[in-house]
Amino acid sequence: MASSQPSSTTINEQLPLKPIPGTYGLPFIGPIFDRHDYFYNQGRDKFFSTRIKKYNSTIFKTNMPPGPFISSNPRVIALLDASSFPILFDNKKVEKYNVLDGTFMPSTKFTGGHRVCAYLDTTEPNHAVIKNFFINALLLRKDTFVPLFRSILSDVFSEIEDGLSGKSGKADFNSIVSVASFNFMFRLFCDNKDPLDTKVGSEGPKMFDTWLLFQLAPLATLGPPKIFSYLEDLLLRTVPFPACLARSSYKKLYEAFSSSATTILKEAEKAGLNRNEACHNLVFTAGFNAYGGLKNQFPILFKWIGLSGEELHKELANEIRSVVKKHGGVTIESLENMSLTKSVVYEVLRIEPVVPYQYGKAREDLIVKSHDASFEIKKGEMIFGYQPFATKDPMIFDDAEVFLPKRFVGEGEKLLKYVLWSNGKETDESSVDNKQCPGKNLVVLLCRLFLVEFFLRYDTFVVETKNVAFGASVSITSLTKASSV
Ligand code: HEM
Repeated sequence: MASSQPSSTTINEQLPLKPIPGTYGLPFIGPIFDRHDYFYNQGRDKFFSTRIKKYNSTIFKTNMPPGPFISSNPRVIALLDASSFPILFDNKKVEKYNVLDGTFMPSTKFTGGHRVCAYLDTTEPNHAVIKNFFINALLLRKDTFVPLFRSILSDVFSEIEDGLSGKSGKADFNSIVSVASFNFMFRLFCDNKDPLDTKVGSEGPKMFDTWLLFQLAPLATLGPPKIFSYLEDLLLRTVPFPACLARSSYKKLYEAFSSSATTILKEAEKAGLNRNEACHNLVFTAGFNAYGGLKNQFPILFKWIGLSGEELHKELANEIRSVVKKHGGVTIESLENMSLTKSVVYEVLRIEPVVPYQYGKAREDLIVKSHDASFEIKKGEMIFGYQPFATKDPMIFDDAEVFLPKRFVGEGEKLLKYVLWSNGKETDESSVDNKQCPGKNLVVLLCRLFLVEFFLRYDTFVVETKNVAFGASVSITSLTKASSV
């Protein structure tokens, strides 16, 4: 922990109460100016860092996209430090009703007319029923995780090698792991059925991409040349894309899950859910939460490890190979004994969380504390957290902007409570009483397993990366096979 950090309890008690700085600007125009700064003039990080400087505060008022006409009220109170951010996980204080995507919600027509789990507040009885169903469904399938993912990874490695030996001489990592993420989730939820034998055929990932794009487009930019920025803004953020554009893809996905997810849908009915509602929830969790998360997570993982270079690769390969040898194979237990591998995964989740935003509405008047002041938020106001600023808070982490592979080794594990990618602390568990991701431990496991299988086969690799709308684009440009196993 950064040595300059005062104990949060002692400082917090003496913090002066200040009015929240910042402005929403004129109605209609203010939100449009803000979103132009956010997407085109400044970009995400600069948008926040310039305002932190301007107001000399990590808590301030601002508008968040999309704004008019898609969201009726874009006004938020932004939290940009590790001290205030966790208030968003306190479900007694904040309401999470329809706030998954922020200040707007895509039509429920994207999900068969249902408000699915991720949009439900913890006080809605259906949240507990559906979340419990997912928590149990994952628990019942826990012995499948390792063998299923390992078999999918062997296809991933063949595809990467094919890409490298092909004309372009490089492998498009994103498209390979998109297919792998889709296949993993489909097989996990659908009694190991091959999606190729269903209505979706090989188009499943593309169908989910189309469906996701029309829901999330108001939050994205393709980074067009400056002269087209007004045009893009107008197209993406004036009216929501109608669900009918994704209807035929969604219908096929729904039918594929409905006919293949026999066991899990029976479990849902036993848990008291109607089969139709359960299946729409299943498609959403498989497609939006899980596929959407994993297909972006794996490139981010390989980007940071790729850019760290050969020395780190050597250390990872040594640790992984010696632990696997000692334990006689790749098991959950052997993965637990790989302290460097575990630490690099946490460091990736810290430095570039896949879902960078969280929202919640104040249930009551409440006090929120940054490192140096406290502020009153009024009941009903929208609170917004930009997570990369909380997990790169220099008051908590030394060299917060730097990727330090060993950050969470040994004593470093104490910092895990500041790793927040799952919409909760890494040291907390997902439950029906919170909105933390129920796939949290599975995601960590899959990232570790990916590295383990990779470094059992290869010594090192080189990547080309660039930042794209929802994460990183990664190509593997060279791969060196393992010299020893
Ligand atoms: C890298 C992959 C993943 C990431 C980054 C991720 C991230 C998140 C985040 C940030 C939330 C909270 C959203 C909010 O309310 O603000 C969430 C919720 C959720 N996630 Fe994940 N997730 C991932 C994978 C998964 C997987 C594999 C599953 C299930 C198999 C899953 C199921 C869910 C569900 C059902 C919720 C809603 C929880 C609730 O309403 O209480 N996620 N996830």
